[in-house]
This record gives sequence, C-alpha cells and structure tokens, in this order.
Amino acid sequence: MFDQNDPQPTRSGRLTEAERIRLARLREDAYTADLELPEGTDRWSTWPDAEQGPHPRPSWLVTDLAAADTELGVLKTGKEADVFVIERAVPGGPTCLLAAKRYRAAEHRLFHRDAGYLEGRRMNKSREGRAIANRTSFGRNLIAEQWAAAEFKALSRLWSVGAPVPYPAQRDGTELLLEYLHSSGQAAPRLAQTRPDASELRELWEQLVAALELFALQGLAHGDLSAYNVLVHEGQLMVIDLPQVVDLVANPTGREYLARDIANIGRWFISRGLPPEIADTESLMTHLLVTAGLD
Ligand SMILES: Nc1ncnc2c1ncn2[C@@H]1O[C@H](COP(=O)(O)OP(=O)(O)OP(=O)(O)O)[C@@H](O)[C@H]1O
Ligand SMILES: [Mg+2]
Repeated sequence: MFDQNDPQPTRSGRLTEAERIRLARLREDAYTADLELPEGTDRWSTWPDAEQGPHPRPSWLVTDLAAADTELGVLKTGKEADVFVIERAVPGGPTCLLAAKRYRAAEHRLFHRDAGYLEGRRMNKSREGRAIANRTSFGRNLIAEQWAAAEFKALSRLWSVGAPVPYPAQRDGTELLLEYLHSSGQAAPRLAQTRPDASELRELWEQLVAALELFALQGLAHGDLSAYNVLVHEGQLMVIDLPQVVDLVANPTGREYLARDIANIGRWFISRGLPPEIADTESLMTHLLVTAGLD
C-alpha cells in the first residue's frame, strides 16, 4: 500500500526525466506533446521513424527514444550531398557520434549517375516518374531519396558480410546516419590524404584486395572507387560513398565499372610507390571476376 510517509520518487533525476521523455514519445501524441527538447539539442532522435540498420546492431548505437540529436559540425559540403557530424545522446545517459550524409535535391546532380540508375526502373508513367523526368523540385527530391535508399541498401548488405564499410545506422528520407569513423573526434583521413610508408602501403593494398573480394562475392563493384572514397581508420581501410554500387551480373557494363574502379585505385597505389607487380591491376581484375562467378 502507498504510504504518504514514504519518500516520493524524485521527478527531477536525469534518468527519471529520460524515462518520462521515452514514455511520452511512445504515446500516440508523442510529437505534439509539449515535450521540450533537451537544452542545446537540435531535434529528437529520428530513429523510431527511420529505416533501421542491419542486425546485430553494434552496442555503441543509441536507439533510445529519449535521445536527441545535436549537430557538431560539417565534414564536407558538395553538389550531391553534405556530411555533418552529429551526436545522439540521452540526457545523462549513453551517447554516440554519427556521420549524417544528407543528399541534396540538386539541380546539377551528375547526370550519368541518375541515367544509369533510373534506366532500370519502371516508374516512367507514374506521377513520380514524370516528376523525375521533368526534374521538378518534387522529382529532384525523389531522386535524392532514391540515392540515399540505394546507398543504405548497399552499405547494409556489405556490412552484413563483414566488408570494411561504416555501419549504416538508419535512413530517413534523404538523410543517412552512419558510424562516424574518427579518432578522438577527428574524422578518419581519406586515403588520398595519407602518406603511408612502403610497408603500410603494401598492407593497405592487401586490405583493399580483401575488401574488393567481399564486394565481388556479393556480385558488386563500387562504381566510383578512388582514393577519395576510401578512408583510413586507425590503420584499417574503410570504403565509403556507395550510392552507385554496380551489380556485376545484372548490369551489362558492370565489368567496365569494375575495370575503371581497379584502374583508378591501382594508379594511386603505384603513384605512391607500390611496385606495379604487386599492384597488378590486370590479375586483380581476373581474380575478382572469378570471385564474382563471372569467368
Ligand atoms: N562515416 C564517415 N566517417 C567519417 N567521415 C566520413 C564518413 N562518411 C563520409 N565522410 C567524410 O565525408 C566526405 C564525403 O562523403 P562521401 O564521399 O560519402 O560523399 P559525397 O558527397 O558523395 O562525396 P564526393 O562527391 O566528394 O565523392 C568523405 O570524403 C569523408 O571525408
Ligand atoms: Mg565521395
């Protein structure tokens, strides 16, 4: 029985507050409820409404409904997407850092990417198809959303087979939230920005070959591989930027994309001093085609 003399549970404790927020967000009226965002944060966690990343989910990922997101800074702005660092945190509780890649509904989106992707889709007669074809602002937004969805799908598939890609935490519309690859908050450098010595260079090449083997086992080529779309995170090579991933079996020009990927990245390794007999792009191509079951 409730006894008036018992001490009342504190309502101002931080965990109690987080629990109150979590419960309020579970209610139907969660978004209209007069829930005040924790001070200094930008929005409630978008996790509950997003397409969520594959299992098993990494233990560092904050999935709590009481979490809120804060933008900490910008990593890169570009024509097609902007990348920000955000912190997702429960007041007084767990916190994680994420890279938010936001696709733009840009006028100047690289046409070749759209053309290749849209070719295979049967939406030309629909309202969406017409909007895309006419590049209305609604259509441009749909294109941006399709790129985000394509990248999320590719990352999820590759992460699930152990390929070195950041964990895709979620996709919500045109925004992807990815594992932020960093050391003490500092973003992992692009391969192009690194100056590996001879033995590091050889080690990175071996990691690259292993990564491409995992791609090929899935029947995939990156499609835009370069020393700018590979990061080096604490000695580990990580592949990013995958919206245009190419299906080697279904796409008649798949082999050409694979050959171009290998040539691009091979050139970088050779320019940095890796002996061409090690960075042997021709035998790598043959090896990857066999791995993909295509030769
Ligand atoms: N998960 C991540 N962790 C750390 N940094 C990241 C991550 N994802 C992206 N970045 C940074 O943001 C940059 C842009 O990301 P990405 O290449 O995916 O986008 P993009 O707009 O398609 O780029 P671009 O058009 O320049 O190739 C990367 O070069 C990298 O520096
Ligand atoms: Mg890129």
